[in-house]
Amino acid sequence: TSARVRLADPLALLKDELGSLRHNITSLLGSKHPALDTIAKYYFQAEGKHVRPLVVLLMSQATNGLSPTWREVEQRERAREEDRREGRGRGVDEPLEQEDVLNDDNPSMVQRAKDLLSNPLSILSSSTATPTSADSTSTLNLLPTQRRLAEITELIHVASLLHDDVIDLAETRRSAPSAPSLFGNKLSILAGDFLLARASLALSRLGSNEVVELVASVLANLVEGEVMQMKGNMPNRSTTTTPSAAPSSSSSSLAPTDPSAIAAATLSGRGPTPAIFEHYMRKTYLKTASLIAKSARATTVLGGCGALQGWKEGERVKDAAYEYGRNLGIAFQLIDDMLDFTASAAELGKPGGGADLKLGLATAPALYAWDEFPELGELIERKFEREGDVERAKDLILRSSGASRTLDLAAAHSAAAIEALHRLPESDARDALEKMARDVLTRKK
Ligand code: FPP
Ligand code: MG
Ligand code: MG
Repeated sequence: TSARVRLADPLALLKDELGSLRHNITSLLGSKHPALDTIAKYYFQAEGKHVRPLVVLLMSQATNGLSPTWREVEQRERAREEDRREGRGRGVDEPLEQEDVLNDDNPSMVQRAKDLLSNPLSILSSSTATPTSADSTSTLNLLPTQRRLAEITELIHVASLLHDDVIDLAETRRSAPSAPSLFGNKLSILAGDFLLARASLALSRLGSNEVVELVASVLANLVEGEVMQMKGNMPNRSTTTTPSAAPSSSSSSLAPTDPSAIAAATLSGRGPTPAIFEHYMRKTYLKTASLIAKSARATTVLGGCGALQGWKEGERVKDAAYEYGRNLGIAFQLIDDMLDFTASAAELGKPGGGADLKLGLATAPALYAWDEFPELGELIERKFEREGDVERAKDLILRSSGASRTLDLAAAHSAAAIEALHRLPESDARDALEKMARDVLTRKK
């Protein structure tokens, strides 16, 4: 590891940004209904890790300025902010809680429309307004839309946690009682929906269809991942590939060079089939990595790397951001699944100590343990539902190398994230992203 990366401090780099992120999120969630207002804001009172906003903000800084249209993108956003300050039109920062902001009879909007009709060329003069301080550091400035995207990712994440804690019957979250345990399931679900609604409103204000499409597809992915986890269509041990069959005959959805596909190919064959392992990896991508990957990609779009005719480099930047986020997200969830066995509830601030087994879930440590102790297969297939199953499984898993093989796989994804990152030019923000990818392996909660 280079000294630059070792010394990089993602949180210090974005200290002020994270302060305003928390403030802005609270204002995005204002509701006139006191119960909704309280529950919607509840999980934001405790300190989260802010992984998703950090990735968005740092990826913005690492890629802004690369697009040949960067100057125009930046000027357009400045002009929009200027307009807003002078009472013409809405900016991304406009409060969302007043119903009338979306009203077409908003007087300033009407005035703006009239102005445009009488003088269509005025739109040109406002979008080419010269920046007030075009110094060199402004090249890497965050755009208002990128800040807002960072907030949106945290809103979506917390919405999914509100729903998740209902599904998982979780008593605790962020070292405090969970929302369902305090407010009940119904209000927790509605609060999650409210967060998604406000996130959608804010998303629509970003003015990019490509970004809307990316983020909307994440919402579908989160639900798909959760349903895959809940219902299985987990490929059945007996009806899938026999140990002697080539791995290629399984219904593989992973690229053969993907660390997880390589890991699946090294299974002994006495436990989970490659198809079972890849089902778990696919679910992991959908429920955790998709949000990080697609929001990292989306912020490069906001920075001007969207569909651009004749600029092939844009695709490379977007793909690098996506691949970084995908691999970081997978590593992050693998460690989460490992910590569920190796850390206590007290250390995690949420249920731990094998909580996933109680939910009937076999994550990476359990799958690897099955590979070593074939008798685990039966317990996994009946979702640990018989008396004593959870304890027996936990014992076998802790005696196996399941946790350390999970850590190794997470390390391979961390390395792949860093490889993707190195396709981008060197910068402080890139160092900080690299540090995040390394630190994910040693996190304790
Ligand atoms: C936490 O996983 C949960 C997720 C990463 C996603 C949950 C998604 C849904 C409930 C679908 C609904 C989606 C939206 C957009 C509202 P975990 O239970 O393994 O982690 P934990 O230990 O933190 O609870
Ligand atoms: Mg869950
Ligand atoms: Mg959960």
